[in-house]
Amino acid sequence: MSTSPTKLEPLAIHGGTPVRGKLLPYGRQSLDDEDIHAVVEVLKSDWLTTGPKVGEFEEQFAARVDARHAISFSSGTAALHGAAFAAALGPGDEAITTPLTFCATANCILYQRATPVFADVSPDVLNLDPDEVSRKISARVKAIIAVDYAGHPAALDELGRLAKGRGALLIEDACHALGAEYHGKRVGGIADMTVFSFHPVKHLTTGEGGMVATNDARLAETLRRFRNHGISSEARQRHEAGQWFYEMVLLGYNYRLTDIACALGLSQLAKLSPNLARRREIAAHYTAAFRSVPGLTPPSVRAEVNPAWHLYPIRLDLAKLTVDRGQIFRALRAENIGVSVHYIPVHLHPYYRDQFGHREGECPVAESAYERLISLPMFHGMTGADVADVVKAVSKVISHYAR
Ligand SMILES: Cc1ncc(COP(=O)(O)O)c(C=O)c1O
Repeated sequence: MSTSPTKLEPLAIHGGTPVRGKLLPYGRQSLDDEDIHAVVEVLKSDWLTTGPKVGEFEEQFAARVDARHAISFSSGTAALHGAAFAAALGPGDEAITTPLTFCATANCILYQRATPVFADVSPDVLNLDPDEVSRKISARVKAIIAVDYAGHPAALDELGRLAKGRGALLIEDACHALGAEYHGKRVGGIADMTVFSFHPVKHLTTGEGGMVATNDARLAETLRRFRNHGISSEARQRHEAGQWFYEMVLLGYNYRLTDIACALGLSQLAKLSPNLARRREIAAHYTAAFRSVPGLTPPSVRAEVNPAWHLYPIRLDLAKLTVDRGQIFRALRAENIGVSVHYIPVHLHPYYRDQFGHREGECPVAESAYERLISLPMFHGMTGADVADVVKAVSKVISHYAR
């Protein structure tokens, strides 16, 4: 019998007392009275959509991420579609992306009838591996779509060079990485286009919402038209100029973000810096606590990077445990810790298998990481007691199942 005191404490999954009485989610928005007031003011105003708050939010956002232009969209997915369109992806073209992401990253390539090519990730930070990209790049590749997994910027310099060498564009899916830095520069003005999401679990929320940041005026104009049916002017411009005439110059969509959402975005943006600081504090606390827990590896951070910590994904060392990831996951949920898994490799989803014949073994690093990943709760509204509960539950469960 073990002499470890934590082993004597029965797990909640075996009928013991859970570490928490109520489930702690893995991510959650924080809204205050200022946010609510900002939205209510718009509801009383003349413009519910495509009014002054859209431009204000875009301008302040661009300044915050050090980009010349920011174009808002109705979601991060719509923003990715806009970026794939602006990169001129079309039938017969390819775009290289990572399998370890939310499916929207690859789906935007399919929306343009182009072909996604999956390159494997680096084992340390689980971002696109430039060596794997260079093995898969060809004259057909028009874009590399890198993801800043968990908020850790991808190898943007190397990937940018690879894209440029082929006349392709680097699109950075920074849906996890608002506020992250790479070689001291803010994510947003580094890649040709950088895409953000404002889903409630992200660093700032507008309910649903997204943004593309770019320094290229031509791409910015295409993105603006694309999110507004392909029309060359916006309703408010016409209203202010007393004109009715407009022209549709490309096939776009209604991907506009409302003034209601942008007012919330502006109010949330004002709190981004303290919220990022809190996420970094939580990550530092987790990493210090878990360094000495055998059976798990905390996320790595490269020297040139300051991550934004959208997620905190630990990797299980299955050789040191008596059970698989599924059992650790269930045991943590029973302790009322709302863990999650990011991500099922995109190429292994039924749609990608059925339509394109993708199979296991194509991206071994991502596939092996997937078997071992668990995302712990990470959001700026977590209290010190929440963080302590996660550390306690993880230590309790892992030590119970240690070999
Ligand atoms: C990496 C990544 N890309 C794209 C998206 C899509 O963003 P949205 O939910 O705003 O459409 C997400 C959303 O979670 C994401 O995590």
